[in-house]
Amino acid sequence: MAPDNPRPVILDVDTGVDDALAIALACRLPELEVIGVTTVAGNVDQRQATENTRRVLHFLGAIDVPVAPGMTGPLVRPHQDARAYHGPNGLGGFELPPSPGRMVGAHAPEFIIQAAREHQGELDMICLAPLTNLAVALRLEPELPRFLHRVVVMGGAFTVPGNITPYAEFNIWVDPEAAAIVARSELPVTFVGLDVTTRVRFTREQWERCRGLDHAEARLIAGISTWAFEHRQVDSYALHDPLCVAALAVPSVVGLDQAAVTVDTGLWNTVGETRLLRGDGARPEHLIALDVDVERFTVLFSETLGLPLA
Ligand code: RIB
Ligand code: CA
Repeated sequence: MAPDNPRPVILDVDTGVDDALAIALACRLPELEVIGVTTVAGNVDQRQATENTRRVLHFLGAIDVPVAPGMTGPLVRPHQDARAYHGPNGLGGFELPPSPGRMVGAHAPEFIIQAAREHQGELDMICLAPLTNLAVALRLEPELPRFLHRVVVMGGAFTVPGNITPYAEFNIWVDPEAAAIVARSELPVTFVGLDVTTRVRFTREQWERCRGLDHAEARLIAGISTWAFEHRQVDSYALHDPLCVAALAVPSVVGLDQAAVTVDTGLWNTVGETRLLRGDGARPEHLIALDVDVERFTVLFSETLGLPLA
């Protein structure tokens, strides 16, 4: 049953394939009201991420959702993208029509601060990309933790190997300094890392079932998955970002632990490694997803988007 009043949320994205599916899920879930999308350099450069985000929103009929472009690179290090994984255009090579929608003039960190103040502590954020925008917003407004209700972060690999190096998950690895600023802050963060996101997957068999269906969500997932199944020739790929949307809308989809988080910002091969700190003095504590109800997520994802996955 739809809730009386959906929660206002900002998505922070580097639209990419799984970001696009997360945007679709967030726009369709009755528990959430997407009041804006901020973009950042990550899977692709910021300009491409912004264009992809506008096109996905338009394709889904959500053209009144404002898009605020953000940081064009990490705080310190050069930007390294993931086009090999997401395809040259970041959407698996799928060409979406351009969006006529307007762009907000505000820069992403300012947009986040303004929206957080306006929603007086009721605003949630779902961060699905390197944390550069959120780190800058924290530096611009140190009181930001008082104005945000919950921040779900797709990031980290706490009990499993990384996906971009054996130690690091991509969003953290691209901008470890930004991730360290967020992890050390008093923001109410829920980290949803590879420990759980690699367990929710979209398979080649499910893709075959979606192809040929003509509603927007089916055409989107079928189109943007082409690069994975035809070029990369994988049997499945992880739905990292959509799980974070589900974890905010239906928190019981994941099992949560509590710990402080450290991020390796060194110059060695372990850069971007995320570790849990427990016990006396381990502050500030955040929530960490270490378990996931795969079946429950799959039903939520497929029923919300009208896809034959379960
Ligand atoms: O490691 C997975 C994360 O990195 C996802 O957010 C994916 O979109 C990429 O940004
Ligand atoms: Ca992403």
